[in-house]
Amino acid sequence: MIKGFLFDLDGVIVDTAKYHFLAWKRLADELSIPFSENDNERLKGVSRMRSLDIILELGNLNLSSEVKEKLAAKKNSWYVDYITKMTPDEILPGALEFIQDAKDKNIKIGLGSASKNAMTILERLNITGYFDAIISGNEVSNAKPDPEVFLKGAEALGLEPEECVVFEDAAAGVEAAINGKMKCVGIGTKKVLGQADIVVEGLKVICTNDVLNALGIDFKYK
Ligand code: G6P
Ligand code: MG
Repeated sequence: MIKGFLFDLDGVIVDTAKYHFLAWKRLADELSIPFSENDNERLKGVSRMRSLDIILELGNLNLSSEVKEKLAAKKNSWYVDYITKMTPDEILPGALEFIQDAKDKNIKIGLGSASKNAMTILERLNITGYFDAIISGNEVSNAKPDPEVFLKGAEALGLEPEECVVFEDAAAGVEAAINGKMKCVGIGTKKVLGQADIVVEGLKVICTNDVLNALGIDFKYK
């Protein structure tokens, strides 16, 4: 029985990857490290500090953790400048309709995001009220593919992991769902998210019943 849906934020509900890219690119330029949009793909779903490590690796730069903290804070301040200007029209097509359809069917809704800025983004998009539980990067110590963020999400919803379906756009997030013994809907391409139970291009092409049918779950709602 499925009783909860757990959503990743960046890339599932909103496209913040472009803002992460602009902020990381500015930092990479300052450090004279070549950094392309293609490289940015590797940062999806990955924590802030791990993202910085990936960029420093691209430039063969070895820095102390003190300097790294400062660089990550600098990138974040630029990123925050972008996201505080976001508006609800940046919500990805079909995302709110999909979530509302699930809520109408008494499915609980949780957020499981690696981002420490998740609350700011939800507030800017004016959608905080859709969520029964919100777990962000501030509440977890182990980044995806560790299942911690989704396990905490399930717990906050009062559900068992097996009762939840995860929606993820990053390979590390799909792995996290699998590690947490949850079903997973990949949002993106099969090439990247092949391990997910099903893969769709976006929430706009599915509804709750499609997901449960595709997962072979017999679902009777009130
Ligand atoms: C999400 C994004 C990642 C980002 C991470 C941390 O998972 O997909 O690209 O690095 O959140 O975001 P933050 O806002 O805490 O820097
Ligand atoms: Mg994501």
